[in-house]
Amino acid sequence: MSLPAPTYRGKVRDVYDLGDKLLLVSSDRLSAFDVVFGDTIPDKGKILNRISAYWFSLFTDIPNHFITADADKFPGPYRGAFAERAVLVRKTQRIDFECVVRGALMGSGYKEYMATQTLAGVQLPPGLQKGALLPEPAFTPAIKNDTGHDENISFAEMQKRLPQYADALRISSLSLFARAFAALKEQGIYLLDTKFEFGILNGELTLIDEIFTPDSSRFVAIDAYEAAFRAGHEIPTMDKQIIRDYVEKIGWDKTPPAPKLPADIIQKTVEQYKKMEQLICKITPLLTKERGGEGGVR
Ligand SMILES: Nc1ncnc2c1ncn2[C@@H]1O[C@H](COP(=O)(O)OP(=O)(O)OP(=O)(O)O)[C@@H](O)[C@H]1O
Ligand SMILES: [Mg+2]
Repeated sequence: MSLPAPTYRGKVRDVYDLGDKLLLVSSDRLSAFDVVFGDTIPDKGKILNRISAYWFSLFTDIPNHFITADADKFPGPYRGAFAERAVLVRKTQRIDFECVVRGALMGSGYKEYMATQTLAGVQLPPGLQKGALLPEPAFTPAIKNDTGHDENISFAEMQKRLPQYADALRISSLSLFARAFAALKEQGIYLLDTKFEFGILNGELTLIDEIFTPDSSRFVAIDAYEAAFRAGHEIPTMDKQIIRDYVEKIGWDKTPPAPKLPADIIQKTVEQYKKMEQLICKITPLLTKERGGEGGVR
């Protein structure tokens, strides 16, 4: 029996709305600079799905949307479908803010710093270099914007727009970041920044979407970070940075259509995603315990 079309096609994932649940199916589609490419990255969807499911299994103390990634437990016609690419989750009323945490000055955070010496409106010390680790991780929310790029805002602005939940979102996001940061550091990896989404389910804040994947986070090997930072080079993050570098090099203007990618660029990207999966899956459930002052989201 053929399956119905997805209810919603995101840039990377197909979403099947099953009433009170969702099936999130990770494709091999690639998006960079908010443009979906014609080329796909083989097995990327499976890798992302496994990484995110693994993290959810570590953070069992936080209300989250995860039900199962075991396709044999999917309901009705979906049973056994999308092997390893899909996750069954509880549908929530999504909060239309991205909860970004930055441990380093990269991307749009660095752009803001260059313009105003602030990050999410908060003053930072002068003279910080691109990629510099921040004195402490910063919560830098953004408004989710269906029509294009998300809009970075200050935390004060988030408090104004979302008075009921802003403080709790900030505390949860910073705590999740600290716990993952500590665990990844033990694997020789810096978590430079990441993005969470939350929803409301039965009146309770619930962690949704994907967590700590190379699509939602910047990771870098600590030794590679140190060497690049010292030399003033781009930080070699372990994700689709290879693709970002390639399209910048050939001078693509970042408007559709995206350029075709050479086979070796695709292959190197697959290798990065695989390496990240291997490293993350070495992390053990010690994450669920209090870790000094950093643990405990609630
Ligand atoms: N438990 C959940 N309840 C409600 N919505 C969810 C849940 N988990 C994920 N989502 C939403 O499902 C969609 C997943 O698709 P995908 O991430 O590929 O979209 P996208 O192109 O990145 O667009 P978006 O900017 O909306 O994230 C996202 O819109 C995400 O917010
Ligand atoms: Mg998304």
